[in-house]
Amino acid sequence: MGLSQLCKKSHVFEIVLVLFILGLSRKVECVTPGGSELFEYSAISCRKHSALLTEFGGKGDGKTSNTRAFQSAVNHLSKFASDGGAQLIVPPGKWLTGSFNVTSHFTLYIHKDAVLLATLDESEFPLIAPLPSYGSGRDAPGGRFSSLIMGTNLTDVVITGDNGTIDGQGAPWWVKYRAKQLNHTRPYLIEIMHSNEVQISNLTLLNSPSWNVHPVYCRNVIIQWLTILAPIDSANTDGIDPDSCTNVRIEDCFVVSGDDCIAVKSGWDQYGISFGMPTQHLIIRRFTCISPDSAVIALGSEMSGGIQDVRAEDITAINSQSGVRIKTGIGRGAYVKDIYVRRMNMHTMKYVFWMTGNYGSHPDDGFDPNALPDIHGIHYRDIVAENVTMAARLDGIQGDPFTGICISNVTIKLSETPKELQWNCTDIQGVSSRVSPQPCNLLPEKKSGNGMDCAFPADKLAIESVQLKICSGSTSST
Ligand SMILES: *[C@@H]1O[C@H](CO)[C@@H](O)[C@H](O)[C@H]1NC(C)=O
Ligand SMILES: *[C@@H]1O[C@H](CO)[C@@H](O)[C@H](O)[C@H]1NC(C)=O
Ligand SMILES: *[C@@H]1O[C@H](CO)[C@@H](O)[C@H](O)[C@H]1NC(C)=O
Ligand SMILES: *[C@@H]1O[C@H](CO)[C@@H](O)[C@H](O)[C@H]1NC(C)=O
Ligand SMILES: *[C@@H]1O[C@H](CO)[C@@H](O)[C@H](O)[C@H]1NC(C)=O
Ligand SMILES: *[C@@H]1O[C@H](CO)[C@@H](O)[C@H](O)[C@H]1NC(C)=O
Ligand SMILES: *[C@@H]1O[C@H](CO)[C@@H](O)[C@H](O)[C@H]1NC(C)=O
Ligand SMILES: *[C@@H]1O[C@H](CO)[C@@H](O)[C@H](O)[C@H]1NC(C)=O
Repeated sequence: MGLSQLCKKSHVFEIVLVLFILGLSRKVECVTPGGSELFEYSAISCRKHSALLTEFGGKGDGKTSNTRAFQSAVNHLSKFASDGGAQLIVPPGKWLTGSFNVTSHFTLYIHKDAVLLATLDESEFPLIAPLPSYGSGRDAPGGRFSSLIMGTNLTDVVITGDNGTIDGQGAPWWVKYRAKQLNHTRPYLIEIMHSNEVQISNLTLLNSPSWNVHPVYCRNVIIQWLTILAPIDSANTDGIDPDSCTNVRIEDCFVVSGDDCIAVKSGWDQYGISFGMPTQHLIIRRFTCISPDSAVIALGSEMSGGIQDVRAEDITAINSQSGVRIKTGIGRGAYVKDIYVRRMNMHTMKYVFWMTGNYGSHPDDGFDPNALPDIHGIHYRDIVAENVTMAARLDGIQGDPFTGICISNVTIKLSETPKELQWNCTDIQGVSSRVSPQPCNLLPEKKSGNGMDCAFPADKLAIESVQLKICSGSTSST
């Protein structure tokens, strides 16, 4: 049933109908005189069944823990997985909660005036095993706290809203992490593992204790219209971390963060090598980042399952440390290859290009000193940057150079206090064309005719053609 029929069916006399047509996305809302709202949203699939968190004892007072309400709602609604699926609506209010799991053929919808508030009670984040591809927790050896919203081994899960908020209340976690008082890895805000068909969209994520959005061992992931905000000095508040995932589309997101805005990963040293699951076929587009101490898009440092076929376009960076940064090192093994970036616009940058071959950071002493990463086929084109301190710092690995680097049509305007050496290159090989200031000797200029353009694939990834459906819901129980 379409929303206009739903509005009529509810026999209301005063109907407010708002319709925005913005490309493919539209938004319809109608409010009944009784105050309940009918709304539409776009998602990979719509659901036959619908429920409100309040039907499971939820209290939106900002004080009562809703962990059990969320979990009993999800457990109940999981029964509809084979009968058209279900959506759980979080209505306006402040919903304090610890970690809970979501289920298959399920949508969690967070109303624009709803805030999921992560509890400060650590016992509401049960400990779980480290990721098999990491072998160890990222903050401390051994176990890790469950993420606020978790999903494992699912098919078809949607976490969305009309810009509803999830507030991780991370400040005490950042303090404890910095004071080395944590024996376990901090929770993430959203972690979906071993799942197929995942959508995370139209939310505001605030103050995560650590990473914000972590799809790991997933296929067919769509992440769009997220606003992710954390203080620029907060510890490890990465925006989005696609990790050992295939077919991922990240678009129209805005991230302000204390760490990398996007960090593409695939496992850590010997554990990642033996797990062997790459991140591949990833598109990132229309993305804006502010991260003064980190990268707009990092590839690594954990890349031991390999990273390949990453395409990024129409990226805006403001006051960030570097644009795309490759981070790797001895012991990581695997590869970063077939990376394509075009149309980046950057203002106030320490480095435009950065590759780090000696990142260090190992899970333990068991890494293989002969496991050298293979970095090749890195293509950057059509980039404008201003107020830049240093154009490029490109450090490969001695005896294991990073090859097939191509940089074309790049204009970099320097800051008032630039570095004397603008391009510092070691252990790399590649070419350049129409780049200013002039690159290092290891990136000689190709000068035939008007020069050349670095490659960008002309084909589309399968995930780019996935169309979203228009679904509807209501903030009153039926
Ligand atoms: C959530 O899922 C994880 C992984 O399957 C499991 O270990 C945990 O017990 C689940 N939590 C709840 C509350 O069901
Ligand atoms: C989830 O799937 C993975 C990979 O198939 C499997 O190893 C793991 O045991 C499953 N976990 C659960 C909780 O079912
Ligand atoms: C999601 O965000 C986009 C961009 O702001 C907007 O066009 C769309 O209507 C939003 N969807 C919902 C359900 O709010
Ligand atoms: C969503 O909310 C955030 C935080 O209030 C705001 O900055 C952002 O502009 C909002 N996005 C949309 C599409 O309304
Ligand atoms: C961490 O472990 C140490 C040593 O076992 C212990 O003294 C300390 O209380 C633990 N800290 C927390 C926060 O559990
Ligand atoms: C240029 O960058 C410097 C930091 O290198 C910053 O302090 C300054 O505000 C920036 N200027 C403009 C105009 O953005
Ligand atoms: C060079 O890059 C700029 C900035 O992205 C773009 O506007 C321009 O069209 C590019 N030139 C060519 C020949 O592709
Ligand atoms: C250039 O990079 C190399 C390798 O990282 C470093 O040892 C050297 O100090 C750098 N030179 C300058 C002038 O920054």
